[in-house]
Amino acid sequence: MKFFVDTADTKDIADLAATGLIDGVTTNPSLIAKSGRPFAEVIAEICALVDGPVSAEVVATDYDGMIKEGRKLAKIANNVTVKLPLTLDGLKACKTLTGEGTQVNVTLCFSANQALLAAKAGATFISPFIGRLDDINLDGMELIQEIRQIYDNYLFDTEILAASIRTPNHVKLCALVGADVMTAPPAVIKSLVNHPLTDKGLETFLADAKKAGIKV
Ligand code: G3P
Repeated sequence: MKFFVDTADTKDIADLAATGLIDGVTTNPSLIAKSGRPFAEVIAEICALVDGPVSAEVVATDYDGMIKEGRKLAKIANNVTVKLPLTLDGLKACKTLTGEGTQVNVTLCFSANQALLAAKAGATFISPFIGRLDDINLDGMELIQEIRQIYDNYLFDTEILAASIRTPNHVKLCALVGADVMTAPPAVIKSLVNHPLTDKGLETFLADAKKAGIKV
């Protein structure tokens, strides 16, 4: 499973990219706003930090506006993935932009039928939002499972990019049900390494090494 980091904070991205564990980045207008920096400038900087896809989202809601913004975003760097909302205009724009060779991430997916439409529109990635479904008492992971089944039934190439990941358990379940990619905030990705028995075991090994005067 590929790991994307869901942030527009370039310091966090640089730190995680240095681990070699990050395959791409996702942003959205809320994350760009949080960075307090100009859109094009922050996307260009992120694209230089990672080799993989960097999702940059349009803010237009009509087809012509999305195409104009999508083409502008795609020119920033060749690893830009244009992020489009899951609306009829967004799907139409997806078809056009992917036809031009631009990678597209169709976002704000909350149902299996929406994911089916995105695949038919040629989306490179579909972004189902797990946490936001869980927030309203629905099962976000069940949606990932349904999309996996549908895409496998028809051999769609669209990659399932599980988004709105809030916990380490979300990450594990995504891997178990076969999401292609998961995107999570830096803190969630960093927390995956934690285990109290690892800390305890390391403490004992180091204490024993010190006592015995072991040097490597
Ligand atoms: O980038 C979209 C998604 O990951 C947002 O997550 O936590 O705001 O629902 P969240």
